[in-house]
Amino acid sequence: MAQKNATFAAIDVGTTKVCAIVGRGSGPDDLQVLAHSTVPCDGLRKGNVADSKATTQAIRRVVMDVSREAGVTIDAAYVGVTGAHVSFENRWDALDWVGDLGVITSDDLKRVPEKISAAATVAGRRVMHAIPLTYALDGEKTIRNPLGMHARNLEVETHVVSGNQSYVRRLVEAVESAGIEVKDLVFEPLASSEAVLTAAEKQEGVALVDIGGGTTDIVVFQGGMVRYTGVVPVGGYQFTNDICQTYGASYKDAEQAKLAHATTDLYESKLDEEISLSVEGRSTAIKIPHRDLCQLTRERAQELLKLIKVKLQEADVEDICKLRLVITGGTSNLPGLEALTQQLLTNRVRIGMPNGNGSIPAELKAPAYSTGVGLLLWAASRSEPEATAQTNGRNGHSEPRSGGFASRFIAQLKSRLSLNLF
Ligand SMILES: Nc1ncnc2c1ncn2[C@@H]1O[C@H](COP(=O)(O)OP(=O)(O)OP(=O)(O)O)[C@@H](O)[C@H]1O
Ligand SMILES: [Mg+2]
Repeated sequence: MAQKNATFAAIDVGTTKVCAIVGRGSGPDDLQVLAHSTVPCDGLRKGNVADSKATTQAIRRVVMDVSREAGVTIDAAYVGVTGAHVSFENRWDALDWVGDLGVITSDDLKRVPEKISAAATVAGRRVMHAIPLTYALDGEKTIRNPLGMHARNLEVETHVVSGNQSYVRRLVEAVESAGIEVKDLVFEPLASSEAVLTAAEKQEGVALVDIGGGTTDIVVFQGGMVRYTGVVPVGGYQFTNDICQTYGASYKDAEQAKLAHATTDLYESKLDEEISLSVEGRSTAIKIPHRDLCQLTRERAQELLKLIKVKLQEADVEDICKLRLVITGGTSNLPGLEALTQQLLTNRVRIGMPNGNGSIPAELKAPAYSTGVGLLLWAASRSEPEATAQTNGRNGHSEPRSGGFASRFIAQLKSRLSLNLF
């Protein structure tokens, strides 16, 4: 847990926008958002950095905005990663360093993520998470927390998430070129789930589906643990691109038409109404039936829901009809999508957005900010007891760096009493 009044910065580098949020607190429950800034960015394709210069420029801009507004100098941040290159494995490993003293200590368990990350790393992949799920003590599985237990053999099951090293490096370089150290990389739907899902949902079983601009990111929780993570390389871009391809409109005009008129609900489409759409190479706008635009949108949504269903089947979800599903991300704003998801996947659907924790400004309580807010909550709950940013003296209080003997001693004592291994 972070020290009192530590300052955290999060940067969501999305396919359509870059969003930076700065907050202060001693943990996720008392986190205050000090500043946030979002700028459009087209430096990414399907979650991957395609134009480093444009991406770095957008990052530099949002960091400047939030630094000025919060009165802090930001030199490090938690950064989100997504893309079809991200994959996972649930694996069992023996913890051969454990049990020398006969009892399992918090120091033994703290080493798990780092050790398993090293063991799971293969050429060309970068491990981002090794999340402990369950332990097996002398062959007895399903131990959630073996702290203080005695064992000769301890094994751990972890959820390991990794990404293509070159894609991840390109993202890190884009952030570093903006003068920001990457404090940690977080797979985006895991961050979104921090902001959007309740502990009860994670316990009962839930799929979070973050439909953004370039990708649809999925994470499935069962029994309070993450069991599956996946990415479909389809997002709002494809909905807009369908309009471009069908009618010859520019991306900008097609996006505008989508946001103003599209719905997947054909009952909501106006049978005899036409909408104007500017078309490249023509001096006058064309008229297209509103119903056709909605039909196009509905077909794309049906296709996407089919792809999501395939992923949920991959996740071994027993009965998708009974699954609790939370959709978030900018595209979850699409009118009719919730109802269509109920028809095609499961009745138990809700739109998710950041709401509870700390003081979240009203502007951030929208599905497009689930990842950004989630990254900040991730930072607040898992950060080492030191500030990721220092005040620049224009606003706020000075940040004491941690590391005094007394604070280290108390931190060690606390870590022996309670575990936080994520
Ligand atoms: N009312 C709406 N109807 C339809 N689409 C919408 C609506 N509002 C936002 N969107 C779409 O949401 C998308 C942006 O969502 P979001 O901000 O979550 O994406 P991102 O984080 O930039 O991308 P990604 O996470 O995929 O890398 C855009 O494609 C936009 O058109
Ligand atoms: Mg996103």
